[in-house]
Amino acid sequence: MSTIDKVKAYQRFDSRGNPTVKVEVTVNNHTASAMVPSGASTGDHEALELRDHGERFLGLGVEKAIGNVEEIEKILVGHDIFDQVNIDKLMIELDGTENKSRLGANAILAVSMAVVRTAALVSGKEVFHYINSLFGEPKMSLPIPMMNIINGGAHVNWEGSDFQEYMIVPSGADTFSQGLMWGVETYHALKSLLGKKGYSTLVGDEGGFAPNIQSNTKLIDLITDAIVQAGYKPGEEISIALDPAVSEIYDKDNKKYKLHTQNRELTSDEMIIMWEELVNNYPIISLEDALDQDDWEGWTALTQKLGKKVQIVGDDFLVTNTKRIDRAIQEKSANALLVKLNQIGTVTETLNAIAKCKEANWNTIVSHRSGETEDAFISDLCVATASGQIKTGAPARSERVAKYNRLLDIDEIDLVKLSQTVEFTGNTPFTGKQR
Ligand code: PGA
Ligand code: ZN
Repeated sequence: MSTIDKVKAYQRFDSRGNPTVKVEVTVNNHTASAMVPSGASTGDHEALELRDHGERFLGLGVEKAIGNVEEIEKILVGHDIFDQVNIDKLMIELDGTENKSRLGANAILAVSMAVVRTAALVSGKEVFHYINSLFGEPKMSLPIPMMNIINGGAHVNWEGSDFQEYMIVPSGADTFSQGLMWGVETYHALKSLLGKKGYSTLVGDEGGFAPNIQSNTKLIDLITDAIVQAGYKPGEEISIALDPAVSEIYDKDNKKYKLHTQNRELTSDEMIIMWEELVNNYPIISLEDALDQDDWEGWTALTQKLGKKVQIVGDDFLVTNTKRIDRAIQEKSANALLVKLNQIGTVTETLNAIAKCKEANWNTIVSHRSGETEDAFISDLCVATASGQIKTGAPARSERVAKYNRLLDIDEIDLVKLSQTVEFTGNTPFTGKQR
C-alpha cells in the first residue's frame, strides 16, 4: 500500500507578489508539490480563499491556511494516495462549510493537487496520464490556446478598457505548436503596431498589453490588424474571444452595466444587443461572462440569441460548481464552462464539473487565474480531460508561458513515450456542436 506519510504547507508568492500556499505530500520518500493561484475578478459564488486579514502583506497573508493544512494532515496520514475521491471528500467533510470557508479553498486545493502529483510520481505516470485515469475517459488531447493579448478592467487597475480580456484563438491551426506559433507572432505584431501608433506596450496581469484606448471596437480592429500583419487570416486561421467579465462593472442597485470609458450605462437587454452587433461584425467565436453572474434570465436570452454562432462561456457565472452548472444546463443559459480548480477547491469536484459539461455536449476551457505561479498543473488537467481549449494568458510572463511550455513538453512526451495517444482536436470545439 502506498499511504500518505506527510502533508506540509509553505508560503510562496504569486505573480502579483501576494502570498500563496504550496503543499508537499510525501509517500515512501516520494515527495511532490503543488501551488495554488488566485483571482482578482473573482465570482461571488466561488469557494473561499482564506486570507489572514492581519497587518502582514496588506491583509493577504496565508498563515491561517497554512496552519489548517496541519489539521488536514492529521486526517490524511495513513490514507491510500490513490484514493483521490475519498481524500477530497474527507477534506470537504473536515471543512464542513458550503464554500470551504473554514479551512480555506487555497489550503484544501493545494493538498488535493499535491496528492495527484505524488500519486502520479509513485505510480511512475506523467501527471496528465494519471489525471486521465482518475477522469475515466480514455481520450486525451492538446488544446487550442486562448491567448489574452489585451488586458483591461481589474487586471490593469481600471486604467484601460472596461472589458477585461481580448484573446486570440488560432482555431485554424493543424497542431498545438503551430497554433502557439501563430499566437506568439500575432502578439509581437500587436506590440509593434501599438509602438508605431504611440501607445504603451506595458503589460497587465496576464501578459497582454494595456493601451489606453477607450473603445472596444478600436481594440478589436487593432487585434485584427495584428493578425493580418503577422500573416494570418482573421476568422479563418485566428479568431477572437472576449472575456469582458462584466460582473465587475454591474451595478446591482440600478441593474445597469457601467461602461466607464464610454460614459454609458446599459441594461441587460441593451448589453445583449451590443454583443450581437459585435459578434455580427467581428470574427468573434467566444464570449465569456458577457452578463452579470446572477442574471440567469439574461444568460438564457443571450444563449438563445447567440449560442449557435459563438461559444457562451460561464466563468464567474458558473464558478466550476456542479449545482450552478446543472441549473444552467437545464435553463440553457450557456454552452461552455470555464474550468478553474480554485473556484471549487478540489480536483475531484473539478473533474465532476467537466464530466457534467461533456455529458451535456458543452465545451470546457481549462483556465489559469490572473494571479498565477510557475505551477503548470492546469496544462496536465486540460490534456487529461480532453478539454480542447486552454486559457492561460499572453505568451509573455513566465507564470503564463510555463503552461504553454508544459503543453509542448506533453506533446513531446506523448510522441516518445505514449505513442501519440494525445491527439490535437483543433477547432472541433467550434464545429459540430449542437448548441
Ligand atoms: P481572475 O480573472 O483570475 O482575476 O478571476 C480571470 C478570468 O476572469 O477569466
Ligand atoms: Zn473570466
